[in-house]
Amino acid sequence: MKKIFAANWKLQKTPAESANFADQFLAQVGQLSADIFSHKEVFIFPQNFSLDILTQKFSSSKVQVGPQTIHFEKSGAFTGENSAELSQKMGATLVLLGHSERRQYFHETNSNISKKIILCQGLGLLPVLCIGETLAERENNQTEHVCFQQLTDALTGVDTQKRIVIAYEPVWAIGTGKVATVEQVAEIHSKIDAKMKSLGFKDFQILYGGSVKPENAPQLIALPYVDGFLIGGASLEVASFLKICQCL
Ligand code: PGA
Repeated sequence: MKKIFAANWKLQKTPAESANFADQFLAQVGQLSADIFSHKEVFIFPQNFSLDILTQKFSSSKVQVGPQTIHFEKSGAFTGENSAELSQKMGATLVLLGHSERRQYFHETNSNISKKIILCQGLGLLPVLCIGETLAERENNQTEHVCFQQLTDALTGVDTQKRIVIAYEPVWAIGTGKVATVEQVAEIHSKIDAKMKSLGFKDFQILYGGSVKPENAPQLIALPYVDGFLIGGASLEVASFLKICQCL
C-alpha cells in the first residue's frame, strides 16, 4: 500500500509563496535519482487562496491538493464558506475534514462532518477525516472511547465501499513539539484499524499527525498501522517536508 504524506499549511503562504514552494519541491524531486513517489502519495492542504495556483503547478505531477474544510452544502447562500464543488472544478481531489482546530474554534460537529464526507463522496473527492483526543481525555483513559465515538458519529451514513483516509492526531501533540510515543501510536492505530473494519470499511488508510518532524518520522512510519503522516509546521519548508517524504 502507498504511504501518504499530507501537508496542512493552515493560514500560511500567499499564492506566490505557494507557487514558489511547488516549483522548488518539483525541482528537488526531479533531481532525485529514484522515483520517490512510486510507492507514496503526496497531499497538500493549502489556505484556499492558493488552491488554484497549486492545482495548476501540480497538474502534471502526482501531488494532490485540496481545501482544509468545506461547507456541507454543495452551493448556495453561505457567505464565507468553501464550496466543495468549486474546489473540485479548480482541480482539488481531496478535502481535509474535522481537524481539531475546526472542532475547537469553529464548532465543527461530527454530524456536520458526516454531511461533508457524504458530499465529498458524491463528488468523488477523497475525504481525510481527522480524529483525536485532548490531553485531559488521554489522562482520563478516554482515548479509545473518544476516537471511536468520533469515527462512529462522523461516519454515520457514509458509503463504506468508498475510500477514506483517517488522520489520528492527538490534540496535545499538534504544534506543541510533543509527539506521541511509538507505543501510544501503535496501540491506538491498531484499534482504529479494527474499528474501521468493524464499521465495514475496506479501503482506508490511517495517518498519524502531531509534531511530525524529519527526526521522528522514520520510527513512526515503521509501525504496522501507520500509513503516513499529516504534517503541519514541518511541511512549510520544502527541505523538511521532502525529508519526511523520504523517511522510508
Ligand atoms: P503539527 O500540525 O505538525 O504542526 O503538529 C499537525 C496538524 O495540525 O495537522
